[in-house]
Amino acid sequence: MNAENYHAVVIGCGRGGENIGVHSIGYVHGKAYRDNPRIELAGACDIDPGNLDRFCEHFSVPYKTGISEELLRELRPELVSICTYVGSRPALVEASVRNGAKAIWCEKPLALTIQEGRRLVELCEENGVKIVINHYRRYLDLWNRVKQLVKDREIGDLEFIVGSFEGWDQMEMHLLDMMRYILDDEPVSWVMGQVRCTGAKRSYGHVMEEHSACYFAFKNGVRGFYDASCHFPGNSLFRLNGAGGYLEVFPEGAITLANARGFTQIATDSDWSNPKKGGRDPFQDLLNDFLAWIEGGASATD
Ligand SMILES: NC(=O)c1ccc[n+]([C@@H]2O[C@H](COP(=O)([O-])OP(=O)(O)OC[C@H]3O[C@@H](n4cnc5c(N)ncnc54)[C@H](O)[C@@H]3O)[C@@H](O)[C@H]2O)c1
Repeated sequence: MNAENYHAVVIGCGRGGENIGVHSIGYVHGKAYRDNPRIELAGACDIDPGNLDRFCEHFSVPYKTGISEELLRELRPELVSICTYVGSRPALVEASVRNGAKAIWCEKPLALTIQEGRRLVELCEENGVKIVINHYRRYLDLWNRVKQLVKDREIGDLEFIVGSFEGWDQMEMHLLDMMRYILDDEPVSWVMGQVRCTGAKRSYGHVMEEHSACYFAFKNGVRGFYDASCHFPGNSLFRLNGAGGYLEVFPEGAITLANARGFTQIATDSDWSNPKKGGRDPFQDLLNDFLAWIEGGASATD
């Protein structure tokens, strides 16, 4: 490898097989590394030996272990993917920093509390380690088209943005991330939220909520609302209301624009979560931005 190339490791491989991307997100990281000419997938770790073996065979990974500290100490990789469950993330971020990682590509959610999340970000900043959370939907055509339509003032001043999603655990943070992306990462000034969590539902190694909803205000005055675990009537994911019209965003990647010119149906090159056939690979765009940031460029959100 050349000096400007990188060694990467994946911690938390998943079972593989069906449903990669919905689960076994480690395979998405593995494929992104394999497809990037500047990165070598040098090692992997999983506490489940069967998952580890399958992953290493699938990607021809040369080094495997069930102990993450050993992986990081032995290989001292520049890039670390953390694809385990949220409870293990603080220790894995700390171990990555301790063992000289330059960058961490971490699955969401970063931590169980805001305080813990902030502490981990500060730890990375203090040690010059770049960290990104895998909110890759920012690289999909659908969301970029929505953002552009708002920027082009097709609906005038944006006033209200509403999102809903049913049937996929932990989707609310993706909805919130898309709202923030469309608004150029405008900060949020206040939030009211409610969660119904009886303890009956478990996933990713912890208790999950049955339903959550939240209402909030961006600093520029735009209001936001999301309802996670319950689709709105009409099956739209997002509705953006402006002073001069509205936009409706559908899971299959279609957008309806309603303004003074009437109704326009807009097709895009991705659905809400994946590129369509032949579309750009969002993970390569994410990785290339990440490498540019590591090498002194601006971060994708600067
Ligand atoms: N960004 C996205 O779009 C996206 C999509 C799917 C999942 N996720 C997130 O990724 C995380 C993993 O989800 P998944 O569906 O891939 O789970 P999964 O169960 O398919 O895979 C997780 C793997 O991590 C391993 N593991 C758990 N603790 C470990 C530890 N301490 N050290 C090493 N290995 C460990 C497990 O054995 C398993 O193989 C979840 O937090 C989920 O929210 C994000």
